[in-house]
Amino acid sequence: MNYHPTAYKKMQPGHSIIQKIYSLSPNTASCSRRACFVGICVCLIFYYLAPYFFRQVFSGFSYKSAVHLCTTRHLAPHYLSAIEFDASINHLPINEKDGEVPQLPFVGNGKLASLVKYEQEDSGLYLFYDTLFTNENKKEEKEHKLLRLPYDPLLRPEHVTGSHHKEEVSVVNFRNGIVEHLSCYSSSHGPLFLNHTVIAHRSRPNVLLQRLEGRIDGKSGSEDVYIHQQTINHNSVFK
Ligand SMILES: *[C@@H]1O[C@H](CO)[C@@H](O)[C@H](O)[C@H]1NC(C)=O
Repeated sequence: MNYHPTAYKKMQPGHSIIQKIYSLSPNTASCSRRACFVGICVCLIFYYLAPYFFRQVFSGFSYKSAVHLCTTRHLAPHYLSAIEFDASINHLPINEKDGEVPQLPFVGNGKLASLVKYEQEDSGLYLFYDTLFTNENKKEEKEHKLLRLPYDPLLRPEHVTGSHHKEEVSVVNFRNGIVEHLSCYSSSHGPLFLNHTVIAHRSRPNVLLQRLEGRIDGKSGSEDVYIHQQTINHNSVFK
């Protein structure tokens, strides 16, 4: 920019601003016009993209909080049982901040048993059996042992439409021996709640029951859930 040093010296108090504008105008006109144009473009882009951007960000937040709310709501009846030591609640991963004590979600009736963990290698079917052994007093004693079968009947439901938010909790009910694997998934219809219960029958000890119930909280709609079940392994006793 070409300021005339003499122009400033001659300035009168009342004329100063007008003088300045005159002195700026010829050289900076194209520059400020360009700045104006860029400014308008930025405003337009912001105007059109901002709602999309905020919708993305806030829907992320709202899906996450909806999933969290779903878990909290369905767990509500269990919180009291947990306080009275009738149940143990474990978030996956474990919520150590709130003083959760890790509990193995193991369900069994003395004949057969199962570990209700979707991600774990050692989940599967277990059989109890008795062996005789002689103790240090040379007396025969019976020992109750567990044998892991190379067969895993545990169902593993997955939400196929790819929900980005998911919460899983396992609840061991000490009174009835039922293990619940509860999961909440985000979905466009509202949070999807899955209740997977595993029961080792007490009076029919060779029966292991699994019950899977799904529902969408709030709005109605339907979602596809994929149920994965490992096929019988080649080295299985059930071959
Ligand atoms: C899950 O299903 C079982 C069996 O129907 C029921 O006893 C339990 O209350 C359900 N849990 C939740 C959190 O809805």
